Amino acid sequence: MPSIHSLAKSLAYRCGFSLRRLRQAKKLVGKDGDTGERVRDLLHRRDPYSNFDPGSWPDDVAGWGSDSPAFGELIDLIRPARVIEVGTWKGGSALTMARELSARNSDAEIVCVDTWLGALEMWMDLGDDTRYGALDLRHGFPSLYYRFLANVARAGEQDRITPFPVPSVTAAQWCALRGIRADLVYIDASHEEDDVYQDLVVWWDQVRAGGVLFGDDWTWDGVRLAVQRFAGEERLTVRHSHDKWFLKKEK
Ligand SMILES: C[S@@+](CC[C@H](N)C(=O)[O-])C[C@H]1O[C@@H](n2cnc3c(N)ncnc32)[C@H](O)[C@@H]1O
Repeated sequence: MPSIHSLAKSLAYRCGFSLRRLRQAKKLVGKDGDTGERVRDLLHRRDPYSNFDPGSWPDDVAGWGSDSPAFGELIDLIRPARVIEVGTWKGGSALTMARELSARNSDAEIVCVDTWLGALEMWMDLGDDTRYGALDLRHGFPSLYYRFLANVARAGEQDRITPFPVPSVTAAQWCALRGIRADLVYIDASHEEDDVYQDLVVWWDQVRAGGVLFGDDWTWDGVRLAVQRFAGEERLTVRHSHDKWFLKKEK
């Protein structure tokens, strides 16, 4: 038996309303308030790092814009209790945020959302060692996740950094259902306009009032257009800190 919510949506779609137009009226399913529980405890029955040997994964945290001073500046501005990163790769940017948090004696957790399967541009050129090569396919499947895990373990940040290895939208839905919000959400997954726009739509709802949604790659058309489109629709001002763009959610 369809719920009233799905019947209403079905009717609206048949009348020509898009998901986008319906979004603002949509109520999130599940708990409204964030209970403050750590995502690690809600997500993993076993510690993802336990019995993991980083030894066979030599140190390599190469990423893009991963050590920007913007991370420290936004952490100073927001003083987050929880950070969610959407798009982690080898962990470069997550580890920069971890270092910046440690330097401020913060025990904030960082949740890393990534399929660790690579974005579109990582599958385009078999000769590209920094992208395709770094996926490090084993029997045709990327082993990138284990390099990330090793980098985090070597840096001693296992308690702070929790992997959430699912697609961005799935993670956002999980957060919505669990009532999980973050003070800082860093978007650095796909760079295709529709994907980025979708990330902005689903993750904006998971930013706490007073928090910030920010991201990389303003110079990519897909990113810039998606951010401008979303900001225009929501009447938000796009701000910049070094190489990052950001949107602040008013209290
Ligand atoms: C540009 S890299 C992230 C770089 C990282 N932030 C850094 O600074 O090193 C993009 C990452 O997003 C992930 N990704 C792409 N689309 C995704 C999606 N829809 N859901 C989850 N992860 C995704 C890819 O697997 C890849 O690891």
